Amino acid sequence: MMRFSGITPSGHTQLGNYLGAISRWAADGGAEDLYFVSDLHAMTTTHNPAGLRGRATEMLAVLIASGIPAERVFVQSDLARELGALTWILECTCSYGEAARMIQFKEKAKGQAGVRLSLLTYPVLMAADILLQGASDVPVGEDQRQHVELARALARRFNSTYGEVFTVPRAVLPHAGARVRDLADPTRKMSKSTRDSAGVVFVLDEPELVRRKFRKAVTDGESVPAYQPEERPGVANLLEILAVCTGTTPPEVAGQYRSYGALKDAAADAVIETLRPVRERTLELLDDQEELTRIRKAGAARAAERGEHRLSSALRLIGAG
Ligand code: AMP
Ligand code: TRP
Repeated sequence: MMRFSGITPSGHTQLGNYLGAISRWAADGGAEDLYFVSDLHAMTTTHNPAGLRGRATEMLAVLIASGIPAERVFVQSDLARELGALTWILECTCSYGEAARMIQFKEKAKGQAGVRLSLLTYPVLMAADILLQGASDVPVGEDQRQHVELARALARRFNSTYGEVFTVPRAVLPHAGARVRDLADPTRKMSKSTRDSAGVVFVLDEPELVRRKFRKAVTDGESVPAYQPEERPGVANLLEILAVCTGTTPPEVAGQYRSYGALKDAAADAVIETLRPVRERTLELLDDQEELTRIRKAGAARAAERGEHRLSSALRLIGAG
């Protein structure tokens, strides 16, 4: 089995990314697993080149600081040539209708002027990411399931039309309750690309800022904590965050606090302690650009080498190269 997933530097890494994805990637720890910063995916809408480059470097550092071994990470654009070639092959395997049917494309393109063509073709690049590395298991959030299904369909189609090259991947979804909600608006999930970041806790936020964000968290008209995710999403979110960080369950945590104030402080403390080593190690790595560059180059070389035979076989089988 090979697990493989990516995170897009469309914003700074936030608590939901860490608790829902990165910390699990680090804990799973398979010898063949690979994780990457999908910077090429952050260009499908208006973007700032310097900002993107900075966030990609920062995210690479966060992945390593979170405990994913340095030899299991890479940055996508370091494989731009291989991925560009494979994306083209897969675009010749994918129908226009299949791409246009993607829910995320329809949602993001709606009402937008000058939609980039890459917004339509981005799931094919994502298929190339997955198929180049021969991944079998792709841990992603629900919103990415359809894209992994597309990668699955394209792998099958290529294999049966031209010859067996690709491993057919499957999406691995997180268990229910693994979703962290925005502290200022608990009806939506915490997201790195939210414009107003008052309710978004970033992995590199200073501890005092984390505490302030928790103090301002939106709750409800009650005053004593209880775990009712449907009726009281704000408090449920705090309980879930605290439970994940302390290795207990939300109902168990609920019984320990008599006021919302105490619960908010406890959740803030738990998050600050959980993120502290990650934040410190990330800042250390960012201070040592030489080491980070060395890690990045080695990761890119490994990932490129690993995918090379699939790319050359696919080119040959499709009648090119
Ligand atoms: P994204 O930030 O949408 O690029 O997601 C990167 C990874 O983080 C995906 O695997 C998501 O499922 C996960 N993730 C993002 N936001 C949250 C959240 N609020 N709660 C839990 N997991 C999240
Ligand atoms: N598109 C994914 C996201 O926005 C990130 C991603 C890019 C990815 N390529 C991938 C995830 C390949 C898994 C496998 O979250």
